[in-house]
Amino acid sequence: MRRRRSLSRLAIAAAASLTGVRGWFLPPSPPHSSVLVPCLFSSAREDSLSTSTVHLRGVAVEMPRGASTLRTALLKAGVSPHNGRSKLINCRGLGTCGTCAVEVLSGSVAPRERTARELLRLQSVPPHSFREENAQRLRLACQCAADSEELVLIKYSGFWGQDLSTESTEPADDFQTYFGSLEYPFEDGEKEGPENE
Ligand code: FES
Repeated sequence: MRRRRSLSRLAIAAAASLTGVRGWFLPPSPPHSSVLVPCLFSSAREDSLSTSTVHLRGVAVEMPRGASTLRTALLKAGVSPHNGRSKLINCRGLGTCGTCAVEVLSGSVAPRERTARELLRLQSVPPHSFREENAQRLRLACQCAADSEELVLIKYSGFWGQDLSTESTEPADDFQTYFGSLEYPFEDGEKEGPENE
């Protein structure tokens, strides 16, 4: 049975590469299980899998899924994960200042687990380290990427977004960046500037 399944997969891969059809599925249950049927919905499905709609500060931003960190993708879309003066005074994605901290309310980000750098910043350096809860609930937007079709984020108040008792009330259009593509110097790939420049 195991062998039969893997042979079917090989047949699917070969058929896809020969025909250019983007997706196939096997009709359920024998005797027709060896018939390959083109999946007409594969393109739409792939599109939904490759983009993520991220909700923050009352707006929705569509971004390529996993292509860059949340922080970079949000800044490029004109929405900041930083509060107030931390839009200017931050580490530009190095993972050391902690000012891009957000909570994932629903959806998922990659990596699923906090990186060593996130944990170091959130657990060991004030003011996040003053509350154990911060390291359990927050993610650094510069250290993870959107990894679900829908992703809902919360930005809390405070310079570092550290006050989990109050959501930030800064509207999305209170947006500013200062250094063009140098706002995200640690990202590979395209370095086009934020939209408000
Ligand atoms: S921008 Fe400094 S930790 Fe994310």
